[in-house]
Amino acid sequence: MQRIFSGMQPSGRFHLGNYMGALDNWIKLQKDYECFFSIVDLHALTSSFEDTSKIQNNVMEMAIDWLSAGLDPEKNVIFVQSHVPEHAELHLLLSMMTPLSWLERVPTYKDKLQQLGEMGKEINTYGFLGYPVLMTADIILYKAQLVPVGEDQAPHLELAREITRRFNNLYAPVFPEAKALLSKAPVLPGIDGRKMSKSYGNEIPFGSSPDELRAKVRQMITDPARIKKTDCGHPDVCVVYKFYDVFSYPDTQTVRNECENACIGCVDCKKRLAEHMVNVLSETHHRRMHFINKQDYIKEVLEHGAKRARVVAQQTMQEVKQAMKMW
Ligand code: TRP
Repeated sequence: MQRIFSGMQPSGRFHLGNYMGALDNWIKLQKDYECFFSIVDLHALTSSFEDTSKIQNNVMEMAIDWLSAGLDPEKNVIFVQSHVPEHAELHLLLSMMTPLSWLERVPTYKDKLQQLGEMGKEINTYGFLGYPVLMTADIILYKAQLVPVGEDQAPHLELAREITRRFNNLYAPVFPEAKALLSKAPVLPGIDGRKMSKSYGNEIPFGSSPDELRAKVRQMITDPARIKKTDCGHPDVCVVYKFYDVFSYPDTQTVRNECENACIGCVDCKKRLAEHMVNVLSETHHRRMHFINKQDYIKEVLEHGAKRARVVAQQTMQEVKQAMKMW
C-alpha cells in the first residue's frame, strides 16, 4: 500500500470552503492508502509567533473537525506535528544542505511576505523562509510517496523533491521523491458571492446543524437580475446554483433548466438545496456534536497518533544519521 502524508495548519474552526476540496478528499483517500495526517502547529508559528495563545485551541478544533468529517483515527495516523520532535530534528539537518537561493525563488514566498506586510504583519524571519524545508521534513520523515495538496502548494512540493534529491545524492538514497496529488479545490463562494472567508463573515461553519444550514441557504445571494419569479434566471451567476454543483446534486441539469426557464422560484430552489446539503452533511453535524464534549478522548487520539508516528520517524532518523555518518 502506498503511503500518504499531508498536513494542515490549525487556523480555527473550519468552514465548508475549507472542507470541500481538502478534507473531503482525505476521507476518500483513507480507504486506499496508508495515511499520515498531521496538524502542523510548528508551521502555524511562522505567522503566529507573536501571539501563540490560540494555537492549542485551534489544534483541538482541527482534530474535532477531522474526526467529524469521518477521518478514522485507527486506520490513519493522526497527530500533532510538534508532538513528534523528529520533524524539528530533520528540518535542522535539511536546512544545512538547502541552498538559500532555492528558498528565495519560491514564488509564494515574496508574495506572501508582501501580502502580510500590507496587512501590517512582518514575518521576515528565518523560520518563514524555511517553511518549505519543514514541509519537506514532514513528508520524507514518513517516506511518503504521495502528498495530497491544493494547487497552491505545488511549488512547495517541487522544492521538497529537489531537497530530497540533494539529500539522496549527497549521502545515500534514503528517501523516495514524493509526488503531489493535486486536488482542484472547487471555489466555494460565501453566501454573499465573494470568496468564502471568516474575515468576510460570509462563511458556513463546518458541522452546522440542519437549521443553521437552512438559514444560511435562505440568505444566499441569487441572480440579481431575477426580480420576479417569472423572470428567467442565470444559474452561472447564482450562489445557490454553485452549491448545487459543488455538493454534487444528482441532477444539476434539471436545476439549470428550471431556473433558466423560470419554472421554479428562488425560494423553492433554496429549500431543495438546503435539504440536499442537510442530507450530505447531517452525519458530520452529529459527529461534531458528539466529539465537541469529548476533549479527553480527542487528546487520547492525538497521543496515540503521535506514538505511532514516532515509531516510523525514529526509524527514519536512524537511517538519516547513518547515511550522514553522524554516529
Ligand atoms: N503548507 C501546507 C498548507 O498550508 C501544510 C503542510 C505542512 C503540508 N506540511 C505539509 C502539506 C506537508 C503537505 C505536506 O496547506
